[in-house]
Amino acid sequence: MSFVIVIANQKGGTGKTPLAVNTAAGIARRGVKTLLVDADPQATATQWFEKNPDNFDFDMLSTQKAGLPVDEVIKQTMEEYQIVVVDTPAGGGEGALDDKSNRRLVRLSSLYVVPTKPTPGSLRSTIGFVRRLQGIRDFEQLTNSLNIMLLWVQAQSRTVIMRDIIKSFEAEGGIDGVYIAKTVLQNRIGYDDADGWGTSIFGLEEKIKSNRILQQEFYAYIDEVEDLLAAEPVVADSVEMISEEAH
Ligand SMILES: Nc1ncnc2c1ncn2[C@@H]1O[C@H](COP(=O)(O)OP(=O)(O)OP(=O)(O)O)[C@@H](O)[C@H]1O
Ligand SMILES: [Mg+2]
Repeated sequence: MSFVIVIANQKGGTGKTPLAVNTAAGIARRGVKTLLVDADPQATATQWFEKNPDNFDFDMLSTQKAGLPVDEVIKQTMEEYQIVVVDTPAGGGEGALDDKSNRRLVRLSSLYVVPTKPTPGSLRSTIGFVRRLQGIRDFEQLTNSLNIMLLWVQAQSRTVIMRDIIKSFEAEGGIDGVYIAKTVLQNRIGYDDADGWGTSIFGLEEKIKSNRILQQEFYAYIDEVEDLLAAEPVVADSVEMISEEAH
């Protein structure tokens, strides 16, 4: 049985690609057979990976290169992998969330991770995105309970406004039915370093303390992802449903 984890937010530049590449890397380093699907026509994750594929423990496919919609790529490959991570473009993909292949992607998925900067603009756009995602989930009457995780990224905890946004959002109860990750990914240069070196953050020199801190912080987030998936009941059903529908 495999799980599909989608990294998505309608807002551009929130750090979806670094999150997708490093999520796949972190999971793969724990010995899980992992595929990263690049569903962004800009193919930024693919370019990152292709600098030196040997530096990554996961396999990679691009929907652009395959010339197939994302749900097709997943259906054709998910049997082979325990985890499929998907990097999506800003806006949620072609025709945004409402297009057919994105709806099918929602049906195939166990978890959407939505990276959000703790700024008022980012949070507003995330709330809108998550509500539309929940709308699709409810409309499709999914048999698998799709988890949605809101993850704070590029946080500067010493900045009062960012700290206040996180605190007050949590105090107000967040968004109904959405898991807010306890791990807050701080603003750290290691993400760009890793991209520059053609590796993941786990390929960065461990002797350097700031790299170790980054790796530990990221693993704490991976732990939360794994806990959510461990609690996940049926995924295989939804895959069967879709293949039946195709006949
Ligand atoms: N926690 C973090 N700390 C510091 N920088 C980060 C963090 N997360 C992401 N970044 C940086 O944020 C920048 C934005 O990332 P990027 O533009 O790839 O985001 P994206 O959401 O994939 O964009 P797009 O919508 O264009 O696909 C990158 O330079 C990345 O390294
Ligand atoms: Mg991107």
